[in-house]
Amino acid sequence: MSVTDVATTTGVVVGRIDDVPMGEGRTFVVGSEQVAVFRLRNGSLHATQAACPHAGGPLADGQSDVDVLVCPLHQYAYRWSDGTSTSGAAPIRVYPVREVEGELVVDV
Ligand code: FES
Repeated sequence: MSVTDVATTTGVVVGRIDDVPMGEGRTFVVGSEQVAVFRLRNGSLHATQAACPHAGGPLADGQSDVDVLVCPLHQYAYRWSDGTSTSGAAPIRVYPVREVEGELVVDV
């Protein structure tokens, strides 16, 4: 069984928190989906769909602050809170994510 197959009572373990360096994002496979998990420098965790809805940019490689994620391809910005865009793009999916004993658990 792989890590991505381990279900918890309310989410899916996608990897270890150490898999995501502080201030960066990484993409994980969850079933048939790809999810980007971000570990901000303030300690907060966020998870979104992995591909930008504009043209498929890799959101895990985007820049971010405490409020928004910016796609690396064309700089459209998306709110962590609900995935809506501050720059007129279609919204992205956001997922609850948390750390449980060093593991990243995403509600997908
Ligand atoms: S692909 Fe993300 S803004 Fe264009």
